[in-house]
This record gives sequence, C-alpha cells and structure tokens, in this order.
Amino acid sequence: MGLILSIESSCDDSSIALTDSKTLQLVAHKKVSQELEHSRYGGVVPELASRMHAVALPKLLEGFKPYFKDIEAVAVTTHPGLSVSLHEGVIMAKAVAALLEVPIIGVNHLKGHIYSLFIEKEVQLPMLVLLLSGGHTQLLMVKEYNDITVLATTIDDSVGEAYDKVAKMLGLGYPGGPIIEKMAKRGDAKRFTLPIPMQNSALVAFSLSGLKNAVRLQIEALEKSGEMSEQDKCDIAAAFERSVLLHLLQKSKRVFKKVNAKDFAIVGGVSANAYIKSGFEKLCGEFGMKMHEVDLRFTSDNAAMIGRAAVESLRGGDFDTIDTLKVGATKQLQVGSKLQ
Ligand code: KG4
Ligand code: ZN
Repeated sequence: MGLILSIESSCDDSSIALTDSKTLQLVAHKKVSQELEHSRYGGVVPELASRMHAVALPKLLEGFKPYFKDIEAVAVTTHPGLSVSLHEGVIMAKAVAALLEVPIIGVNHLKGHIYSLFIEKEVQLPMLVLLLSGGHTQLLMVKEYNDITVLATTIDDSVGEAYDKVAKMLGLGYPGGPIIEKMAKRGDAKRFTLPIPMQNSALVAFSLSGLKNAVRLQIEALEKSGEMSEQDKCDIAAAFERSVLLHLLQKSKRVFKKVNAKDFAIVGGVSANAYIKSGFEKLCGEFGMKMHEVDLRFTSDNAAMIGRAAVESLRGGDFDTIDTLKVGATKQLQVGSKLQ
C-alpha cells in the first residue's frame, strides 16, 4: 500500500491524515483545533498558535506510527498562512521524511481547499470555484492542479475575516462565522439597512471592509440608545449575512456570464454556511450550472485535503527535497495570476 502522510498547520488547526494514493481512500484523519484557546482574544494569536502546534503535532503523529512502513511520501502545507505556524508542520514533515527516507511534497493551502471537493473521489474539472476562508476570498477557474487562475479577489478583508470581526464587535465568540449564521436564523434581515458592497461598480472584485464599518456604526447607534438586546444582535447578524450574500452573488454573476462553466463549488471555512450555499444553488440553477459541495467534515482546515492535493503532485512526479522545501511567502494574489 502506498500512503501519503499529510500535515496541516497553517493557522489554528493541527491536523494529520493518511491518504491511499492509488484508491484515494482516507485511511486516517486526526485534527486538534485551537479555537477555544484563541477565542478569548477574539482571533488567532500567531505565537500561541505556533506553540500549540508544537505540542499537538507530535502527539497526533504518535497515533500514525503503525502506518510508517507503508508511507511513500510526506506532504505538508507550505503556504499561504501564518509563517510561525507553517514552520511547525514543515519541521515535522522534514523530520519524518528524513527518517522514513521518502519524498516530501509541499502543498499550497488554497489548492488543499479546492481538492477538499475530491476527498475519496476522482477529480471533476474544469470547475469555477469560490474560495471563502478566514484568509482568502477568491473566485478561481480550476482547470487542473497546476492550472488555477484567479478571476476575482478581495480588495480588503476576506469574507471569513468579516464574519469574525462582526462577531467580535457584537461581543460573540471566535470563530464568528458559525455563531453569526446561527444568530442570523433568528433575526430579521430587513430591520437594518446595511450597504451591499460595490453594487454600483462594474469592477469584479470583493470588498467587505465598508460593510464591516457600517455594522460598527449600527452597533454604536444602538448602544447609544441603551444596551443591545439579543434580538438586536440577531437582526444585525441577519442583515450582515444578507449583504454579504448579495455582494457575493452580484459579483459572481458577472463572472458566470463571462465564462462558460458547467460546474461550480464553494470551498473553505465559510462554505459550511447553509444560507450562502443556498443563495448560490439558486444562482447556479439560473445558469444551468451544477453546484458541488464540500463534505462538512472538510470545509475548515484539515490535513485530509492536503493529502488529496498531494496525490496530484505525486501523479505528476512533482516532489521537493528536504533541502528545497521551504515555507512559502504569503502574498495577495492578483487577478490573472495562477496559484503556485
Ligand atoms: O478555511 P478556514 O477553516 O481557515 C482558513 O483557511 O482561513 O476558514 C475559517 C473561517 C473563519 O473566518 C470562520 O469564521 C469561517 O471560516 N466560518 C464560517 C462558518 N464556519 C466557519 N463563516 C460563515 N459561516 C459559517 N458557518
Ligand atoms: Zn484554510
């Protein structure tokens, strides 16, 4: 059996998985989330994340020892992400690859999110993919593993980041996305009028910071007239979610009209959001496109998606060595550029 041991540590999740490179079976998958520890700070603290990876990853690796003899390659997320966190995974990956004398594969975290669509499945490409995570908001044309082009990107905050910041402003926990989604279900989206970002602009780009500021002003206005009630918070969450969805739909629609795609998917942490997914299901219906979904177990950061992406590198004979593998730079991708 040829197994890929994959490691993910780009943000606040420590995760290790084993993927059979021939059958694509996910043989094992373990993840330790640090959400609770970061929640009291209202966001991820890099130094804390790195220290926690240093404790969690070796402990997780212990459980994978029985498989060591069957490992044919080690894969690890190299970029983008928090460099102090990425280093923890990369150091461990190099140590294991050296010990087992197997090749090492560096994986782009964003490609990992895209290939989370194909865990235990063969690829189905080309596909238009909207990547919505804590660090990224991008509409991508995915033709194959090494041919992924950025069609639209955010000019300021990412969607996940906006959810997290709005949750923080409302005094809710971290990560904000699931909490806001839950509260929005009990809210009246029409009670507050929040702007739909860039709705009169022809630019195909995403922007969340103006909306976030509008939420801030609304909260300040409510606080002036007394303490905010639970219902006030639910109504703000609902209005915020509505503006986010309408913004994403308006801008994506422009791209849907231009490119002739049959398949579409949302990936990344925010793709767990049922409200956003249902809005896009309707849009796909209008365009006769099929919408694909990531299994809810794999929407947030995990090593299973890194292992699945690494299968493509292995198939292409594309390896790194212990000397060449490095933590990559995290830079904002421009429209027209390709994911590396
Ligand atoms: O992909 P991910 O796990 O990590 C990054 O690569 O950044 O995404 C995390 C983000 C967080 O901002 C979190 O609030 C958001 O995904 N998120 C959600 C939901 N679940 C997670 N946002 C909206 N609705 C959700 N249900
Ligand atoms: Zn991610």
